[in-house]
Parts: sequence; C-alpha cells; structure tokens
Amino acid sequence: MNLEQSIPSGSAALLYKVNQLKYRATMTVSHSKSEKVIHGHADLRIALRDTQKYSSDLQGDSDVRDYRQIPLEVDPPKHHVYRSLLAPQFVKPVIESHADEFASISDRLLHQYFQNTGLDVVADLVLPLVMENLGVIYRRPQDVAEWVSWGSDVWTAESEVRDGAVLHRYLDRIYKEALEGRTKDVWQEIASLEIDGIQISESEFRGIAGVLLAGGRDTVIKLLTGSLWHFAKHPEDADRLRANPDLIPRAVQELLRFLSPLPAMNRTTVPESSTEELPPDRYVSMSFISGNFDETVFANPLEIDLDRERNPHLSFGFGPHTCIGNHVTEVEARVFLETFLAMNIKIEISESEIIFHQGRLKNVPDRFVSLKVVAWSPPSGLN
Ligand code: HEM
Repeated sequence: MNLEQSIPSGSAALLYKVNQLKYRATMTVSHSKSEKVIHGHADLRIALRDTQKYSSDLQGDSDVRDYRQIPLEVDPPKHHVYRSLLAPQFVKPVIESHADEFASISDRLLHQYFQNTGLDVVADLVLPLVMENLGVIYRRPQDVAEWVSWGSDVWTAESEVRDGAVLHRYLDRIYKEALEGRTKDVWQEIASLEIDGIQISESEFRGIAGVLLAGGRDTVIKLLTGSLWHFAKHPEDADRLRANPDLIPRAVQELLRFLSPLPAMNRTTVPESSTEELPPDRYVSMSFISGNFDETVFANPLEIDLDRERNPHLSFGFGPHTCIGNHVTEVEARVFLETFLAMNIKIEISESEIIFHQGRLKNVPDRFVSLKVVAWSPPSGLN
C-alpha cells in the first residue's frame, strides 16, 4: 500500500511516497542465529578487539546479496585500508559543517508533522528526515524520494519479502553514473577510490555504497523515534533540556545507550573466506545491548538518566569496526532534539505499535512499528 500525504498549500513540505509495510526498524544485517553469545561490557570489549578469534569475515544477508558489506564484513589488515579511505567523509568537522542544513530539514519536517493530523512519526517525520540528511552528506538530494520510498529496511523495499533487487538496481545505476563522471558526489568519489593503484571493483563499490545506505537508516530512525517516545513519557526531561540545551549531546548518548538501536552483530570463529569447510556453529553474537545494561558499569541501567556523566555505551560497537557514522548520528540527533524542544510542544503518544524487548528489558523498546503522536499542546511556535 502506498501513502501519499496531502500537505496544506503554502507549506514547504515535500510529498513522499512510502511503502507503509516497512515502518519498522530492523537490523541492518541479518545473520544466522548463533547459540554462542558474548555478554557483558568487559567481555565484549575484549572480544570485539580480538578480530582473530572473532572474525568479521562473514557473509550476512546471504538470502539477498552475495558480496561483502565493506568495511563491515572484512577483517584487518584489509579492513583498515577500506576504513581509512572512507573515514574522511565521516570526520566530525565535515559532519558538523552540515548542521545548519540538518536544522532546516528538522524544522520543516517537524512543522509539517505538527500542522497535520494522523501522520506517523516513523514514516512521515523521521524516515524522510534521516534520508534528507543523508542526501546532504552524500550530495545526492535527487535520490531522497527514492530512498524514502524503500521504507526503513532496504531489503524489503517493495514488499514484506526480503529481496535485494531494488537496492541492486539503484547501485548498478549509480555505479554506471559514477564511472561516467557526470556527478560530483560521494558515489563518484567511492567509485574512484584506488587500492595499490587499482581502482575498486564493482563488487567493492556495491559493498561500500550498500552499507552506507543501510547503516544510517533504521538505526537512526529508532534513535529519533525513541527520543520522542521518551519525551512523551517524561516531559520533565524535555523541560530540563529545553532550559539547558547544552545538556542535549549528553542526553543523546544516554538515549543511544538505552535504546541500543543495533542490539547485536555476529562474528565467526572461522573466517568464511579461509576455507570451504564452514562449521554451522561458527557464529558468535556480540550482544552490544547487554553491555549497555551492565550494572557493573551503569548505575540503574534500566533508567534513562540524562545526568549520567560517564557513558561508555556500546551502541556504536567497539574496536576496529566501531560505527563510522557515529558523528553523523550525534549531530543529526542533537539538531533534531534542539529543533523539537525549541518548538515547546508537549506530546502524548500511543504505545500500541511498539514492540518491547522481553524479560529484564521489558520496558526497553525493540522496534517502533509505527508511532503516533495522539495529542500535543500548545500549538504555539507553529507558524
Ligand atoms: C543510531 C545510529 C547508529 C547505530 C546505533 C550504529 C551502530 C553500529 C554498530 C554497532 C556498528 C559495529 C558493527 C560491528 O561491530 O559488527 C556499526 C558499524 C558501521 N556503521 Fe553504524 N550505526 C549507526 C549509524 C550509522 C550511520 C549514520 C552510518 C552511515 C551514514 C553508519 C555506517 C556504519 C558503517 C559503514 C559501519 C561499519 C564500520 C566498520 O566495519 O568499520 N552507521 N554501526
């Protein structure tokens, strides 16, 4: 089913078509289930550094792709080569230089959201916002509507059934364009990268561009949606940050810890390109979320405590594969919260489409299938 929202005339809002079936935050990479799990902050930090024992040389999403996501599914030393080629795109000063553009995107989409009724936070606010921000970083504003139409999971872009066709059609097209040199954007820069004097291959391009589109999507969507969920339940935290906006970056870290948008990733005890004999029990899950709720590191981990000063959360992972998009996330979340809080709106939400974790983490959202703001007040600041 497609949704086309009508926006009041005179509004600067964009119209996006989104496949409604996919308003859900899913893990970026789907892995086979592993029986072995590394838990706990200290053990995770040791394991995540030990890339020989716990290798990332594995093929995720094997139902929808047959190439590695790069640098995610590559071990050192090759991992380091890719990572250093990509890092300049994601360093803090580069990302901070986009903060004003992120702010005007947040401002426009938040006003659009609160000037209409019946819109969904995930589909109509946060997904377009995250994609517009990526359009700025990658210098591909012309692709934003297409990325939004895929929904929050690139692998279920045209139906609920996982399928790589939509993403791969896009990657084929941008690779061709990049080689023709018609554009000056991130895809053109990636296609021109060289390792030991040899231009990267089409498969490497797919692996890099694919993860750059998938990595900063469902994860950031969950963080921003979860932040609004928290402020609806705890308006006193919103008031406090509104009065002290300098505390927002620290609050973002605490929301990252609590929401743990990417709860776990797999490693393999047998590097998959090293042999044909791959034991089925080779996977080990790195439970980032267990580190984030480790009582030996975080006092009262089940509380969102905006005053938490030391916050060595593992939401971005740890070790060589630590998220390359951490500054993107921090800057876009900070700007989004600053803009929302400055609007001085108190919100009430419906929790009916939130899936929570189980057991001890039963009050921690796992997935926001959708989130509706059912009431807000006062509408001041909206003009
Ligand atoms: C809330 C936001 C985000 C969270 C929670 C998150 C989480 C993570 C985690 C846990 C890893 C490590 C995976 C592992 O060790 O196997 C990772 C890696 C990665 N992330 Fe993110 N991520 C976020 C946003 C982003 C953004 C915005 C981008 C890009 C625009 C991005 C791109 C990547 C890439 C390319 C890697 C692979 C890095 C490597 O292997 O060296 N992520 N992310």
